[in-house]
Amino acid sequence: MDRKEEYNQIAERVVGHVENNTTDQAENILSIPTSDYTCKKRWNSEINKIFKELPLMLALSIEIPNKGDYKSMEVVGIPVLITRDKESKVHAFRNVCSHRGAPLAGEEIGNKNRFTCPYHGWTYSNQGDLIGILENDKFGELDKSCNGLQVLPCEEFGGMIFVTLTPNLELNLDEFLGGMKSEIEHFKLQDWHYHGFKIIHGANWKIAFDGYLEGYHFSTAHKESILPMTQQGIMDFSSFGPHLRIAFASTNIDEIHDLPKNEWWKKEGAGVDFVRTLFPNISISLGLGIGQIAQILPGNTPDKNTTILHYVAPETPKNEEDKAELDHFMNFLRDVVNDEDYALGLEIQRGLDSNSKENVIFGKNERGNQYFHKYVDFFIDENIKKPPIL
Ligand code: FES
Ligand SMILES: [Fe+2]
Repeated sequence: MDRKEEYNQIAERVVGHVENNTTDQAENILSIPTSDYTCKKRWNSEINKIFKELPLMLALSIEIPNKGDYKSMEVVGIPVLITRDKESKVHAFRNVCSHRGAPLAGEEIGNKNRFTCPYHGWTYSNQGDLIGILENDKFGELDKSCNGLQVLPCEEFGGMIFVTLTPNLELNLDEFLGGMKSEIEHFKLQDWHYHGFKIIHGANWKIAFDGYLEGYHFSTAHKESILPMTQQGIMDFSSFGPHLRIAFASTNIDEIHDLPKNEWWKKEGAGVDFVRTLFPNISISLGLGIGQIAQILPGNTPDKNTTILHYVAPETPKNEEDKAELDHFMNFLRDVVNDEDYALGLEIQRGLDSNSKENVIFGKNERGNQYFHKYVDFFIDENIKKPPIL
């Protein structure tokens, strides 16, 4: 189906829900064990089977747009270095020196073609080759070609850089993203302006992710912030493998009736608002003249996550006024996520850690959450042979 037609239909479904005060629903209520959020053993399986094996969107292309740019970060305990070489090709490595393991770059974004290890000065190209050993004669003979940086599977697509943390695993974005590929491609994120980022801290990575998957909490948790813009509890879900597209109704959705139905697609982001998620840890919302891309990274224990909120805009601000407006939206959104969602999330974590109840319940209306949790189970439990169906 053509994209416009598809988006006309989503808009029609959302308008229908608004008119009838209904929402898209799962078939049943779902109960999951509280230990899904608290158990260290389970959390280790999630880290190993999900975060260390699936492609992760680790950087936006516009964070490192120029030749020689690099980004280094730690993801689930693994130090990663992402570089852009002189042909603009992106590479990813373990940020660990082949000699005795020192990191080649701190957690930062920068520009250099060569990385010199801070410990004994070995030098690597940004393509990962070992090109210089300090006092090589004294060190002894070593085949440099076998001692480059450890390469990680990496692919740049649609303005996003995907990396798999385990060397030699196949990274197949066609297979992994499926229909989400064209959703991502549509936005041409590589042409957007990178405005900035905020780092926030919260509870278990799934508690954080749950918050991006439903609009059931808007009228209580976001009464003053989101509710004036987005209606309570109206959602339409579509899935692409484990990835989701969730449509919400804006408070001004009635204006859609000014358009003929075959032009309702034009209300994307301005009447019908979307959150798109990339399993396991990315939430993308592009609206308000600013986009927020949340990247949830599990902390070093089950009860913690660190989230990087990236802020992007379709156009580069032309003047100080435009810039101030983007700053305003960025701070607003950061405060909503941090002070409302993540603050509650930390309290939820305390509640769950207190062993007060055995289960957590997701309603039929929390269809996206149900799907997400079933997909987590699918990836970590070898006895589940078939992926869930939305
Ligand atoms: S650890 Fe890097 S040069 Fe020694
Ligand atoms: Fe929220």
